[in-house]
Amino acid sequence: PPLTLEVLPLVDSTNSRLMAAADRLPVGAVCIAEQQSAGRGRRGRTWVSPFARNLYFSVLWRFDGGAAELEGLSLAVGVCIADALESLGLSGVTLKWPNDVLADNKKLAGILLEMSGDPAGACHLVVGVGINVEMSQASAAEIDQPWVDVASLAQRQGLAQISRNELCACVLTKLAALLSQYSAQGFAHWRERWMARAAFLGEPVKLLTATQETHGTFIGVDNSGALRLASATGEQLIYGGEVSLRSS
Ligand code: BTN
Repeated sequence: PPLTLEVLPLVDSTNSRLMAAADRLPVGAVCIAEQQSAGRGRRGRTWVSPFARNLYFSVLWRFDGGAAELEGLSLAVGVCIADALESLGLSGVTLKWPNDVLADNKKLAGILLEMSGDPAGACHLVVGVGINVEMSQASAAEIDQPWVDVASLAQRQGLAQISRNELCACVLTKLAALLSQYSAQGFAHWRERWMARAAFLGEPVKLLTATQETHGTFIGVDNSGALRLASATGEQLIYGGEVSLRSS
């Protein structure tokens, strides 16, 4: 299906807007906003979203096979974003499991997938993407994690400014292709490309949930996108959700 774009000066959250209207909107509906008053990140965080600086957008899609069909999809979305940035000339973009886009080990872009409907059957999926393009000084103070933006990376790499419109179009084109093919391809098709960009691969890491901390060596991801953690007691598979990876 073609993408249908809506560009708004201000919205609470592009994800919330598509989630609220998921039953009425066509597959391929895209909401792009210049500013979000309640931008959301993973694990209950706020996504700092100042006016006309960065990219905030979401894409609506439908899947018939429920959550099982979507395994690993958020990792593949990361590959699309990294590929788009690279095709516009930027280098050094890496992916941190499960779905952060980094450069210099600092956050460059975030991905938030949300589902509604039948988790075992027909469901709506909203893929939300936030890319720090040219963060304002004023907003920077509100960000509670190490971050970087496209403009400063481009400058350091001796590139001309990267256009926000071009970057948006490039990511959306890649996402549309990913979403239309994912139920047939699955994550196996994307695994190698994800691994080629993996941050902390082969390194000691810790995985944090609200209640526990697991240590080991990050040795890759399997064909479902689960993280393979090696430790003295053997290999463990860690599934996404509310887990966060740190170097240790
Ligand atoms: C994260 O890394 O925590 C995910 C951040 C996702 C932010 C984007 S911005 C567009 C879309 N709308 C939201 O409210 N969140 C996502």
